[in-house]
Amino acid sequence: MSQVLIAPSILSADFASLGRQVREAEAGGADWIHVDVMDGHFVPQISFGEPIVRALRPVTTLPLDVHLMIEPVDPHLEAFASAGADSITIHVEATPDPARTLQTIRDLGVRPGLTLRPGTPAWALWPYLELADIVLVMTVEPGRGGQAFMPEMLPRIQQVAERLDALDGDRWLQVDGGLNAATTGAAVEAGAQVIVAGSAVFGDAGGVAAAIDGLRGAAAG
Ligand code: DX5
Ligand code: ZN
Repeated sequence: MSQVLIAPSILSADFASLGRQVREAEAGGADWIHVDVMDGHFVPQISFGEPIVRALRPVTTLPLDVHLMIEPVDPHLEAFASAGADSITIHVEATPDPARTLQTIRDLGVRPGLTLRPGTPAWALWPYLELADIVLVMTVEPGRGGQAFMPEMLPRIQQVAERLDALDGDRWLQVDGGLNAATTGAAVEAGAQVIVAGSAVFGDAGGVAAAIDGLRGAAAG
C-alpha cells in the first residue's frame, strides 16, 4: 500500500453530466470514485441516495466508495450494497452499535469503512479499527464540499496511522475534506493513503485529469 490513491468525490461534479464526469475521472487516473450521501438529518443538506450508485455502476470499473452521512444508517446498507457499492463508510456517531453495522456491511460482501466528525474524540474509533477495511479521518465538518482543510486534524491522522500499523492486515487510511494540491502533502506525510477530493478535482478550471495529476504530484511530495 505504498502508492497513495486518489478518490474524486462526485459531490462537486456537474450532476447534469454525472456519467461523463465519472468517465473523465477514470480516464484521468482516479483510483476510486467517492460518493457522498447526505440525508438532511445527520448533516443539514441532502445530496442523493442509492439510485445514483446504481446509475453509476455500469459507467465505471473503478470501486464506488460510498460515504454515508445518514442516520439511522442500518436500514439502508442493503440498498447501497445491491446498488453496487464496493465500500461503505459509516459514521461512528450514526449507529448504536458500530461493530454490528460494520459486520453487516462485510456480510453484504462490501468493504466496511468507519469515520467520525472532527469534533468526536478519536478514541471513539479504537474499539472498531480491526473491523474496518477503511478508516476515514474527516478533515472538515461533514456536510458540504468546498470547505477549508482543518490542519488540527493532522495529529489525528498520525494517531490513526500508528494504530493501524500496529494491527495485522491491510487497511486504508483515508482523508476527506479540503484536500487539494496545497494540503495533500501534509496529509500524506501524516499517514494518509487515500485522498478524497471534490472541489479540487471537479472545480479545477484546468480539467479533471490535470487536477488528479496535481494531487498525485502533491502526494508524492
Ligand atoms: C464532505 C464530504 C466530502 C466532500 C469533500 O462532507 O464528505 O467528500 O465532497 O469536498 P472537498 O474536497 O471540496 O472538500
Ligand atoms: Zn466524503
